[in-house]
Amino acid sequence: MAPLSRLVGALPASLLALVVVAISTVLPAGVHAQTFGIGDPNNVTSLSGTWCTGACHVVTGLQFYNPISETFTYPLSAGQSYSFTDDGFWEQALYLYSTNPSQPNCVSAQLIWQHGTYTLNSNNTLTLNPFKGDGRQQISDYCAQVSNVVQSYTQKEDMNGFEIHLDTHYGQPAYYLKLYEFDGAPKPIMWQTYNPPQMLPTEQLHQVVIGELNGA
Ligand SMILES: *[C@@H]1O[C@H](CO)[C@@H](O)[C@H](O)[C@H]1NC(C)=O
Ligand SMILES: *[C@@H]1O[C@H](CO)[C@@H](O)[C@H](O)[C@H]1NC(C)=O
Repeated sequence: MAPLSRLVGALPASLLALVVVAISTVLPAGVHAQTFGIGDPNNVTSLSGTWCTGACHVVTGLQFYNPISETFTYPLSAGQSYSFTDDGFWEQALYLYSTNPSQPNCVSAQLIWQHGTYTLNSNNTLTLNPFKGDGRQQISDYCAQVSNVVQSYTQKEDMNGFEIHLDTHYGQPAYYLKLYEFDGAPKPIMWQTYNPPQMLPTEQLHQVVIGELNGA
């Protein structure tokens, strides 16, 4: 068979355009600038497991949120944790601090717990759907009149991509997960700490009574 370059050189310009189109459609998916989530798709290991930041003070499961008493346990320090099962369930535990620049004394802390089902899309993005009305948040605000109230929380999360890599954590080989938020911002890396994951039961745990907890 003649080399492609010689073949193409022999063609009139009008036909050349057709050839270029034909060649580009033959290229494997992913080579072209098609819409694709961030991160190199990889399968060094599955998403399955419990992933958490830093020293893993924040971790999904009962030690973070107790659905029977509907109470949070404050972790030692701020952090984030996500868990995934291979059969499509997820859970998150977030402990976030923020300061108000105009009132530096007014530190507020937010605890968020949610779980539900997720989809791993073919374009390397993740859609995390919460069980409606099952999530909870608690905000403690040093300057607010009403603080530390546990409220219902339901927020779908779209991850614009993810990567999993093998590295060393506290001297041990460990996988870490990097999630990219809907706007492409990377989350802090999370280390795989448990596999199988440590999670609360992967089903609706609270009765869905809209507004009940918020007193609305
Ligand atoms: C990836 O696929 C999902 C599901 O089809 C879609 O909602 C999302 O917009 C896609 N994202 C990109 C970056 O193409
Ligand atoms: C990754 O994919 C390759 C090719 O499909 C497969 O052989 C390998 O077992 C997979 N690795 C993991 C950890 O799933």
